[in-house]
Amino acid sequence: MTTADEYRLLGFTDADREAAEKLAVDPVATADFAAQLRKVMGTFPAEGELTAPDDPLVSVAAFLQTLPDIRRYHAERGISDEISWATLADLGRQLNVNRRTHGDFGLETHWWMTIHWVGAIFALGRLQFLLHQVPDAHPVPGVASGEWVVGVHIPESGPLTPEAVEDSFAQAREFFPKHFPEYPVKTATLGSWLLDPYLLDNLPQESNMVRFGRRFTPYGEPRDSQDSAIFFTFRSHDLGKLDEFPQDTALQRLIVRRIRDGGTWQTAFGYTTL
Ligand SMILES: CC(C)(COP(=O)(O)OP(=O)(O)OC[C@H]1O[C@@H](n2cnc3c(N)ncnc32)[C@H](O)[C@@H]1OP(=O)(O)O)[C@@H](O)C(=O)NCCC(=O)NCCS
Repeated sequence: MTTADEYRLLGFTDADREAAEKLAVDPVATADFAAQLRKVMGTFPAEGELTAPDDPLVSVAAFLQTLPDIRRYHAERGISDEISWATLADLGRQLNVNRRTHGDFGLETHWWMTIHWVGAIFALGRLQFLLHQVPDAHPVPGVASGEWVVGVHIPESGPLTPEAVEDSFAQAREFFPKHFPEYPVKTATLGSWLLDPYLLDNLPQESNMVRFGRRFTPYGEPRDSQDSAIFFTFRSHDLGKLDEFPQDTALQRLIVRRIRDGGTWQTAFGYTTL
């Protein structure tokens, strides 16, 4: 059973802890997904190797059930408690995002949290880094087929200052050779709405977001993704609510204006030396 202390370290709000304590989902489905997680933990499963349950709450129950396993895996890799909990606390953050988006206890992004629970992603300061092999279908310039890289992810946890970003990259440069020496990494990649060329051209050039995006060299073709921009900015998937979205910041105004003008937000790709 998850303790109050563990819920706190996992970043649960009181409302989500109370809901989790009352969670009653199919025990067989939960045990099945927990067994799948244990089996692939630390093996960097390929996409599709792990099937997330249909019911995201089954995933939540399985994550809680396998907390001792993922904690043990982190410890075996010599990863500090601080980094381990900071990584796993994305669960509480994502539950809270779900509450803000849908108004209730749930985990729309349960597929995302499986990455944490198989031991492939780590929160190092401001950023998260996902250790993976570059897929042949989406090659990165200068990176060999099958080479290991780290994918950069940006949790919603305050300003993305250049100092915090630099500190995270410095941590990553030490962390991966130390804890995963058999997976040498030289390159960091980013696939994000934060690299949409339109965003980089139209937000203030001195903003954290533009300075962050400009660290990466673009590659590949951007893909249309209106939903990412409105989800990450407004925590909504509802394009019918453009009139209701707040218009207090430069970003909020830019997002809505472009859509009203008939434009489409995109996810774009970039890489940089780690
Ligand atoms: C990426 C992120 C950390 C940037 O935050 P930041 O460092 O505060 O951004 P900046 O200082 O560069 O902000 C530039 C402008 O955009 C606004 N802004 C930035 N992020 C915003 C957000 N999520 N919602 C509303 N406005 C936002 C700022 O207020 C500022 O406008 P202003 O000058 O009118 O106040 C933030 O947008 C965030 O948490 N996003 C969600 C996570 C995410 O998108 N991850 C990537 C997933 S692929």
